[in-house]
Amino acid sequence: DVKACIFDLDGVIVDTAKYHYLAWKRLAQELGITFTEEDNEELKGVSRMDSLDIILKKGKKEISQEKKEELAARKNEWYLEFVNEMKPGDELPGARQFLDTLKQNDIKIGLGSSSKNAKLCLNLLNMTDYFDVIVDGTMITKAKPDPQIFIMGAEKLDVKVENSIVFEDALAGIEAAQNGRFKVVGIGDPDILGKADIVRSSLADITLDELKSLNNPK
Ligand code: BG6
Ligand code: MG
Repeated sequence: DVKACIFDLDGVIVDTAKYHYLAWKRLAQELGITFTEEDNEELKGVSRMDSLDIILKKGKKEISQEKKEELAARKNEWYLEFVNEMKPGDELPGARQFLDTLKQNDIKIGLGSSSKNAKLCLNLLNMTDYFDVIVDGTMITKAKPDPQIFIMGAEKLDVKVENSIVFEDALAGIEAAQNGRFKVVGIGDPDILGKADIVRSSLADITLDELKSLNNPK
């Protein structure tokens, strides 16, 4: 049975993946590094510092730890300029309705986001109360694709892995779920997320019955 759903935040519940991209792109531009939407796929689900390292590596730049902290902080300020404009209704299509359906069916809801801004985003969207458990970037020691974040989520929700389903828009996140032996729904482009058990373009496109059959194949 499906007893819990654990959601990534950025790119699954809300389109903040776009804001992360725009802020990184601005930083890359300042550093004279080319950074495309395709490059950005590699950053999805990855922590702030690791993301910066990927960009610097792409630009073949080596800089001090101190300078890195400064650049990461600057990116975060730009990111927050977008985020602070968010309000209820700005969540991705179907997200709120899907969480309502889960609540009505007594399925527990968890968050497994690498972001240190996750709670802020949920608060701005007025969606915090949907979540029985929140695991965010301030709580983990191992980044996706390590399964720690989702395993922690399932433990805190007091459900078994086999009774939980993860929702992810990032390759690193899909791998994290699969490394933890979770079934995983990819949210996004099937050409990119083909590894997931099923892929849908948004939470508006998935029904409870589909989740149940994913969890319990006939
Ligand atoms: C993930 C995003 O959810 O959080 C990444 O997919 C982001 O793009 C990461 O880098 C860390 O977020 P933050 O808000 O702590 O910089
Ligand atoms: Mg994501």
